[in-house]
Amino acid sequence: MAFWLLADLLILLASAAESVAGQPAASCQARCGDIDIPYPFGIGPNCSRGKGFEIACNPQNDSGEMVPTLAAANGTIHVQSLLVAPIPEVKVMLPVAYQCYYSNNSITDSFYGEVDLNNKGVYRISDSRNMFVVIGCNTLSYTQNGNSSGKGPYAGLYYTGCVSYCNDSSSARDSMCAGVGCCHVDISPGLSDNIVSFGPWPRGFQVDFSPCDYSFLVDKKEYEFRSADLKMDLNRTMPVWLDWAIRDSVTCPPLGVQEKKPAGYACMSDNSECVNSTNGPGYYCKCKQGYDGNPYVDKDQGCKDINECDVSNKKKYPCYGVCNNIPGDYECHCRVGYQWSGEGPKKQECSSKFPLAARLSLGTYAPQHFFKKYMK
Ligand SMILES: *[C@@H]1O[C@H](CO)[C@@H](O)[C@H](O)[C@H]1NC(C)=O
Ligand SMILES: *[C@@H]1O[C@H](CO)[C@@H](O)[C@H](O)[C@H]1NC(C)=O
Ligand SMILES: *[C@@H]1O[C@H](CO)[C@@H](O)[C@H](O)[C@H]1NC(C)=O
Ligand SMILES: *[C@@H]1O[C@H](CO)[C@@H](O)[C@H](O)[C@H]1NC(C)=O
Ligand SMILES: *[C@@H]1O[C@H](CO)[C@@H](O)[C@H](O)[C@H]1NC(C)=O
Ligand SMILES: *[C@@H]1O[C@H](CO)[C@@H](O)[C@H](O)[C@H]1NC(C)=O
Ligand SMILES: *[C@@H]1O[C@H](CO)[C@@H](O)[C@H](O)[C@H]1NC(C)=O
Ligand SMILES: *[C@@H]1O[C@H](CO)[C@@H](O)[C@H](O)[C@H]1NC(C)=O
Repeated sequence: MAFWLLADLLILLASAAESVAGQPAASCQARCGDIDIPYPFGIGPNCSRGKGFEIACNPQNDSGEMVPTLAAANGTIHVQSLLVAPIPEVKVMLPVAYQCYYSNNSITDSFYGEVDLNNKGVYRISDSRNMFVVIGCNTLSYTQNGNSSGKGPYAGLYYTGCVSYCNDSSSARDSMCAGVGCCHVDISPGLSDNIVSFGPWPRGFQVDFSPCDYSFLVDKKEYEFRSADLKMDLNRTMPVWLDWAIRDSVTCPPLGVQEKKPAGYACMSDNSECVNSTNGPGYYCKCKQGYDGNPYVDKDQGCKDINECDVSNKKKYPCYGVCNNIPGDYECHCRVGYQWSGEGPKKQECSSKFPLAARLSLGTYAPQHFFKKYMK
């Protein structure tokens, strides 16, 4: 409670200073290229919830195609998708970190992944969706949460990494990322940046087949090791999922407070609810059960009742009888002349009242025939 009151004050101050809009203006651009930009994200100063949610939309140099990037990041971070509900996730492309060597062991070239994507604190690296991968033939690499100086907002709270070795050019195998040429580890929640270090291990004959060490975060499902990657392009990027949240308070406001929609509270839709963030402080919003839409905006754009009876929803919301949509839910009952059987008409066909009666009268005569006729 105390947290929230303090946060409330901060938000009031912040909104006075930055004019954080509660809603996007109608004139705001809803797409960039073929990517949807739902609020609280937005393009331009008055279209998003604020810094961290701002998306830049610029033409790509070679093709001229419009591509969204995180505006608050200090490098070019391409956005692949922005998901608002039910789970708040953003998919971005992050650069691969590397360190390359001459055979005399001195370093020719390096990049340690320093991209400040998180300077407004909105994002955390998804621990459920990503892994940390290290590639090389005498390589220790680890990622840390921010700054090795121990200063700054995300100073070193977390360290994780692994060791990879190969003695010759043929020992690394495609699809095998278990310590020979490639290793990978799960990451912990709470990582807000990816600043990589490489162990100072001696390099010699390996530079012929493994000239560089690489490490990167990547979607667990989207990377499979190839031995050719021991010589991968230095400018490669990898798909990474970020969890985002409203971080200007530590948790959801208490139940009595949520309904009043205090200044700065993000769950604007009447049919939305607040969920505590599971990766970092803060909260996110989702539509109440039976509703669908954007919980961060109100009125028509917000969470709307799902018509479970619509033909297109039949698979997800089955009804073997007469379907009736009601706010937040649906009813399903058996047609006249039919009755509940088993778990009811949402789960299985209603049974006709007639054949049951028929069975009672006919069953004694010809049970075999009856079953063939009625019980298919
Ligand atoms: C953004 O909002 C500010 C304050 O409300 C206003 O002065 C400014 O004109 C707006 N800018 C745009 C591009 O709409
Ligand atoms: C893209 O174009 C801009 C301006 O024309 C230039 O400054 C930038 O270096 C180019 N980027 C790449 C990756 O070629
Ligand atoms: C972004 O910020 C980090 C750390 O603050 C810095 O090391 C890096 O060089 C910056 N990158 C760019 C492209 O400005
Ligand atoms: C290592 O080799 C490179 C390229 O041949 C050379 O430029 C560099 O001075 C050498 N470093 C040392 C410490 O010998
Ligand atoms: C790392 O620490 C330095 C020195 O305190 C600070 O200037 C810099 O902003 C910090 N970087 C990050 C990413 O926190
Ligand atoms: C490791 O590689 C070196 C150089 O190719 C070779 O001489 C040596 O026999 C290899 N060791 C093992 C254990 O395979
Ligand atoms: C990456 O570098 C290679 C050459 O090293 C170049 O051919 C390629 O166009 C570069 N890709 C990007 C996206 O800059
Ligand atoms: C969020 O976390 C706080 C503190 O742990 C707890 O009191 C509150 O009930 C949680 N709210 C929700 C909606 O889970």
